[in-house]
Amino acid sequence: ARTQVAIVGAGPAGLTLGHLLHLQGIDSIIVERSSRDHVEKRLRAGIIEQPGVDLLVAAGLGDRLLREGMVHGGFYLRYDNTTHYLDFHPYTGQHATVYGQHELVKDLIAARIDTGRPLVFEAEVTDISPTGPAAGVRYRTATGEDTIEADFVVGADGFHGAGRAAIPASVRNELIREYPVSWLGILAESTPAAPEGMYCPHPDGLSVHSMRGPRLSRQYLQVPAGTELAEWSDDRIWAELSRRCAASDAAPLETGPIIERSLAPLRSYVAGTMQYERLFLAGDSAHIVPPTGAKGLNLALSDVCVLSHALGAAVNHANTDHLAGYTATALPRVMAAQRFSALLTTTLHALPGDGFTEALRRATLDRWVGSPAAQHELGEVYLGLPFPTAP
Ligand code: FAD
Ligand code: DHB
Repeated sequence: ARTQVAIVGAGPAGLTLGHLLHLQGIDSIIVERSSRDHVEKRLRAGIIEQPGVDLLVAAGLGDRLLREGMVHGGFYLRYDNTTHYLDFHPYTGQHATVYGQHELVKDLIAARIDTGRPLVFEAEVTDISPTGPAAGVRYRTATGEDTIEADFVVGADGFHGAGRAAIPASVRNELIREYPVSWLGILAESTPAAPEGMYCPHPDGLSVHSMRGPRLSRQYLQVPAGTELAEWSDDRIWAELSRRCAASDAAPLETGPIIERSLAPLRSYVAGTMQYERLFLAGDSAHIVPPTGAKGLNLALSDVCVLSHALGAAVNHANTDHLAGYTATALPRVMAAQRFSALLTTTLHALPGDGFTEALRRATLDRWVGSPAAQHELGEVYLGLPFPTAP
């Protein structure tokens, strides 16, 4: 087949990009390794910043999100037996919206199908050629192999995809930091611990208490890297969550049936080059943030906002300047989110360190709670820095 933009991956990045291109009259083919059912059920992030919501709404993708999403203005912080609410909304006038990533993916797939443009499931991209007059991808399905020839290829295929691998390691310019911890995440039929998200730093490790509905809690436990789900019975998970979030100013944590569980390692990764020849990376294929601060999905949206404009200028106006400047335009916002995610990660988790490290962590928490200036600073990033605009 032949198209203007071949998009690898039907996650939030690939599907949103496909729609933003469609709105500019640009053809694309989206190729996804997994089945539709699998990607629609894959439970992941759930906090969408204001600029992300604004983008989705402006693109006509936000109807259900506006109806069903829960609007938050900040988060709770509980430590030393005391609960604090950090209300960021007054500083920026913005909100974050809680809406499960898989719900968003369902909406995006439905919108794609409505456009009549191709979206191929159960098709694994095995090879990308970023160079030459036409770029291309080769993919494999249950019935055989096929190829797509395209003016541009976008790797929106996540951290383990083919996109990044097609950029020579020598020009990728990578930075990486691994943390010696993972998050054990659960979805449970229980009332959320607090009205908005809550972080509970504890000497034995962080617990995070979020939600997907009034009677649906999403919670995370800091666990050692390399731990196995089999080591964590329901009782052990609840005991640990309850212990870490206990405070004399709060009711004990409500427990309930656990519907879903997963483990995710914590790492920071950034490719300093998001482009190679006719190949462009967006979302997790270009960068990973540790989940603390909930920035992963939001970065995928800001990347494709920038990239869709640049591709529009190239395809519709023969102006490739914005494409050439893609990395330079997108990367500073990625780094701002990297900094925020790393700061929250190192401040909120119990990590190896000496007594001085520990005391600094504590001083940072006290500063967040005690200083309006610190809250303004945190809130700007938590609720969403503006999406980049090309110079
Ligand atoms: P993805 O959503 O990963 O989409 C990439 C798509 O490409 C996938 O559908 C994949 O199947 C497909 N693909 C991969 N390789 C190929 C190939 N060769 N050919 C064709 N298709 C391919 N963020 C938070 O803020 N909070 C969380 O709680 C949270 N939990 C997470 C849990 C897990 C297990 C993971 C992996 C991520 C989590 N994240 C979380 C991060 C957030 O979900 C991601 O940042 C977000 O999904 C990025 O979107 P994306 O479209 O770039 O990538
Ligand atoms: C959620 C995810 C996060 O990474 C976080 O820091 C807070 C909440 C969530 O999935 O709701």
